[in-house]
Amino acid sequence: MPWWFFRRRRSSPALAAQMPKSKPAAETLPQPRSHDSRRYLDEQPYMLPKDLGEVNRLDFQHYVLRAVLRGNYLAPIGQPRRILDVGCGTGQWAFELAHQFPQAEVIGLDLEQVKATTPPPNYRFIQGNILQGLPFENNSFDFVHQRLLFLAIPLNAWPDAVKELARVTAPGGWLELVELSTDPNDFAPIGPATREFFRLASQVATLRGFDTQGVLTRSLDLYLREAGLINVERRLIDTPIGGWAGRLGSLLSLDIREAWKAMTPPIAAYFKIPEQEIYDTIEQAGKEWDSLQTHYCFIAAYGQKP
Ligand SMILES: C[S@@+](CC[C@H](N)C(=O)[O-])C[C@H]1O[C@@H](n2cnc3c(N)ncnc32)[C@H](O)[C@@H]1O
Repeated sequence: MPWWFFRRRRSSPALAAQMPKSKPAAETLPQPRSHDSRRYLDEQPYMLPKDLGEVNRLDFQHYVLRAVLRGNYLAPIGQPRRILDVGCGTGQWAFELAHQFPQAEVIGLDLEQVKATTPPPNYRFIQGNILQGLPFENNSFDFVHQRLLFLAIPLNAWPDAVKELARVTAPGGWLELVELSTDPNDFAPIGPATREFFRLASQVATLRGFDTQGVLTRSLDLYLREAGLINVERRLIDTPIGGWAGRLGSLLSLDIREAWKAMTPPIAAYFKIPEQEIYDTIEQAGKEWDSLQTHYCFIAAYGQKP
């Protein structure tokens, strides 16, 4: 019996109850290399785990994000013939694009393939690393999409990463980036437990070179312009979190708390404190979001290759 069979039962019951079922493939899930409770890619700066619990969270998050963003993309992409999703995670976003554009070839690129569900026939996974350059010719795709890599791409690597994404975008094609704000001031009003989690997480994130000061939030559109794109647009999507904001707020609160829990083992190891201490802080933070009626913010930016 593979190890993740048992792990699945231990992942959050609340999240599991609301998640679509997905089956892992034993042959595509390598063995864990680091912390006992979760599996991380120790050789990468990426802060989140790569395991079944995270596959389920990312699928859950995809449906929440699609509702928050009111769709799968914002750019006016027309009828793309080739679509690339970088850091595709479970591939759910790319699967949906493949269904929406059955005439298009859709490619999901990630460090690892994690899901074994049969993909749409016009979808293909390619292993790759945005930090090492993309394995595609110049001008290959009509639509290039990258979502939620703020804990994967160190801040000083962002300008080159966006240039690389622009390189593979075809003239007339679109490049879209979607991130959660890295500006702690966008988490407002903020209570003491939330502030405490940010303090712990941002120290570990900073050590890995990630932005925790909102530089990325303010620069996404600038990176697109510096990469030579035109018709650049930037949108801030203000998002209430917590049950006080209805079902969507409640789902987003659950997703953020699960993401924070997923980051906890390396943070606890770094500070040499029990993981449970951080889990308690996270639960407290969730209560604060309800009592303070907290908002958070996504940022999307897109541009067109001339
Ligand atoms: C937070 S998940 C987001 C997944 C997906 N974009 C979504 O929105 O559901 C980040 C993904 O980026 C991938 N990733 C991390 N570092 C990467 C790198 N250097 N190159 C390509 N993918 C990377 C991770 O494996 C993970 O699947």
